[in-house]
Amino acid sequence: MSSEQIVLVIGASRGLGLGLLDELAATPNTQVIGTVRAPTAALDHLGSSVKILTLDISDEESITEAASTIPELDTLIINAGMGKRDPVTTSTTDVLSTYLDVNVLGPHRAIRAFLPALRARKTRRIVVISSSSASLGQQALPGSKGLAGSYGVSKAALNMLAMQCHKELKDEGFTVVPVHPGWVATDMGNTHGPGGMPPATSAKAILKLVDGLTPKESGTF
Ligand SMILES: NC(=O)c1ccc[n+]([C@@H]2O[C@H](COP(=O)([O-])OP(=O)(O)OC[C@H]3O[C@@H](n4cnc5c(N)ncnc54)[C@H](OP(=O)(O)O)[C@@H]3O)[C@@H](O)[C@H]2O)c1
Repeated sequence: MSSEQIVLVIGASRGLGLGLLDELAATPNTQVIGTVRAPTAALDHLGSSVKILTLDISDEESITEAASTIPELDTLIINAGMGKRDPVTTSTTDVLSTYLDVNVLGPHRAIRAFLPALRARKTRRIVVISSSSASLGQQALPGSKGLAGSYGVSKAALNMLAMQCHKELKDEGFTVVPVHPGWVATDMGNTHGPGGMPPATSAKAILKLVDGLTPKESGTF
């Protein structure tokens, strides 16, 4: 990134989120903040240059508390998410409700809580890690791969959340995009078996895309 940037990754304890933190920590002129539900030894190698906050995206209070420690922010990356094989016709409404709470209401809570910090800078980028599982076209393909069911419902709603945020914030110079990270070899990605790309590969591609984002790309997938 060209001038000093403050970047926050929500959901950085493992998988793609930790990959994003690793890549950001090696990016010059970047202040890096990550959030986890509970600190683990997996973060020890990052050292003190990366600030780690505790945040559960399903808990409004923990989000408000974390946001109160960050007065300024250039880029908010919401990576936290849950996903397993939970077909909608055999899952209870409570299961679907949990997906919506973590994958849709969580990002909504986070976006609202960090808006003042984003408004305090000019960059004003919000990136939500979505999935091609959100796509009606992709899901309609025979033999389509990837997590579907309740996960797909929640990611489709997440895309619409991003679109509505784009519409409401574009006149303030915000760039809001949902991003599909590809198939990544993480706890979630490995539920399909082996073959996903390493988290570092996806993280590098996402950060390259994020670095080049302008308000013109806001509202696109
Ligand atoms: N892997 C893929 O192939 C793939 C494909 C498309 C999209 N995605 C998306 O990419 C993102 C990252 O996925 P991943 O593959 O890295 O999954 P993962 O290995 O399962 O990691 C999920 C991350 O989300 C965090 N998280 C879960 N619930 C949370 C909550 N309530 N509050 C805060 N953090 C929470 C986890 O923290 P804990 O350690 O505390 O549980 C963990 O850091 C997700 O949004 C996922 O939907 C992944």
